[in-house]
Amino acid sequence: MDNNSPKIAVIGAGVVGMTVAKIVQQELRNTNITIIADAFTEDTVSCVAAGIFRPGTSFKGPTKEITKKWINDSWYFWQDILKTSEAPLAGLMPVSSYIFSKENYFVTRNHLIEDLVPIYRSVEKDELKLCGEGWKYGSYFSTIKIGCDRYLPWVEKSFIEKGGKIDVKKIDSFASLLSKFDLVFNCTGLGAKMLCGDHDLVALRGQVIKVKAPWLKMAFYGDYDTYMIPGLDGVATLGGVRQYDSYNKDVCKYDSAAIMERCCQLLPALKQAEVVAHRVGLRPHRVPVRVEPEVVDGVKVVHCYGHGGYGVMCAPGTAMDAVRMGVDFLKSNVRSKM
Ligand code: BEZ
Repeated sequence: MDNNSPKIAVIGAGVVGMTVAKIVQQELRNTNITIIADAFTEDTVSCVAAGIFRPGTSFKGPTKEITKKWINDSWYFWQDILKTSEAPLAGLMPVSSYIFSKENYFVTRNHLIEDLVPIYRSVEKDELKLCGEGWKYGSYFSTIKIGCDRYLPWVEKSFIEKGGKIDVKKIDSFASLLSKFDLVFNCTGLGAKMLCGDHDLVALRGQVIKVKAPWLKMAFYGDYDTYMIPGLDGVATLGGVRQYDSYNKDVCKYDSAAIMERCCQLLPALKQAEVVAHRVGLRPHRVPVRVEPEVVDGVKVVHCYGHGGYGVMCAPGTAMDAVRMGVDFLKSNVRSKM
């Protein structure tokens, strides 16, 4: 790396920032890259999420085609890691899942991934009796899970080994980066609300319970955002809630009680599971997810934020587009210094 190579900053060290940094290092080998963030691994929303690959209908790009492309590109990015011996170190595992509903067959289907995952099928009548009484509809599918407690340190280690730098600090304005960087990737999640004054970005509060359940080998979903998702280290994630425009980062005992009750109704064996932690995360919800270049205060910025609850699964597809835009932006004559 020489001093004349472009200087690139990635702000944010959640799954989006880390994945952008990884792809920039792959695409632009002779580059100085610095990740700037005030929260890493366990302090990121990415680590609260279970990280299952199952998009919801609130995940939207600027067009249907772009949304689908982000999902497909992400799937193949994860599959490439899953094929290697690094997969467990990177927190990746295959997982199969049942999704049941008492109300609606269509909520058990998922048009965004049915052509992508190896299996997506309606359940047989007998399978409706697997988890207590009263389930009328159900589907079974196979997918993957990305545990950010492992993925983020795994990327960070290789990023540093390849010459990347880490700067632990909070960025309050793009102007503070002027003259220091030729290109900045803004992967600040909900932080972009203040940094960009983006009123379309809204917190979608989530709360989960992490429990020891090494015997749980499959994921299960029920109505009302009820889910339990196994993890590589025997710690399962139970959820959940989706509270729009709520910025409360404290654990709410009523949410915990409701999550536990709904999950135990679905799978009574969870009553015996030891609780490891109660966690809250503010998902950065925006329609559409913002992936676009902009000159801000004279700095060339590529935004990549607003993934809601789908940042873990869809970080790679959006990151690939952001990096493509960044490469073009670096070459362009748009005035970056004012
Ligand atoms: C979820 O996917 O359920 C989730 C994501 C982030 C924080 C909390 C929950």
